[in-house]
Amino acid sequence: MFFKQLATKEASLSYLFGCGSLGKAVAVDVVAGDEDWFIEQARQQNVSITHVIETHVHADHYSGGRQLAEQVGAKYCLHSHAQVKFPFEVLNDGDVIEAGNVHIKVLHTPGHTLDSISLAVSDNRRSEEAWFLLTGDTLFVGSIGRPDLAGKEKEMAAMLYDTLHTKLLTYPDTTEIYPAHQAGSVCGAGISGKPVSTLGFEKRFNPMLKVTDRDEFIHALTTDIPPRPAEMDSIVEANITA
Ligand SMILES: [Fe+2]
Repeated sequence: MFFKQLATKEASLSYLFGCGSLGKAVAVDVVAGDEDWFIEQARQQNVSITHVIETHVHADHYSGGRQLAEQVGAKYCLHSHAQVKFPFEVLNDGDVIEAGNVHIKVLHTPGHTLDSISLAVSDNRRSEEAWFLLTGDTLFVGSIGRPDLAGKEKEMAAMLYDTLHTKLLTYPDTTEIYPAHQAGSVCGAGISGKPVSTLGFEKRFNPMLKVTDRDEFIHALTTDIPPRPAEMDSIVEANITA
């Protein structure tokens, strides 16, 4: 397996990973303007990008996902709940994408948004067990996603609690997590500047994962919410429009 993380505009983190032996790769959360970086990395690794995946429709930056998918002839993939105005490859909970020996399982992880997904990734040549999770804006290093962008923040916060406790936190403590943002992002408060962690470390030291009472969690997450991202409405409109 090869794996690349790209720190990009708006404190976003994008990913390109896959199987060098069989020449397949997937790109995740591509930011507009970075398409050529993915193409160049794929060329260097001698792989073709078969899927371009969004962990959700982004509200803080313009996506380059659809552009990259068109340029390389890949499938552009979103969760079925994504409210976009163009056709896309529909992902649902439990779906599996194979990129050569790399196995990617889709987990529907709503809370930050309704269409949020995480990806549980394993390298079949190492183990069937997930080696890492791409957690999108659901779980950050040191923080979690904000629940208010679509309104209904209490309902969304409850969903996020259930997502974390019934889905992500069920993976082994040694599982690595790679989020869609690092420090400086408006998508969550108190995110670390370190762009990777493990589930076990986050369970012990992520303040919101230590709140195990559901009502207390909802209250804590919906109190003192930071301002909504600047230009959020126009960015979302651009990301959902054909
Ligand atoms: Fe987000």
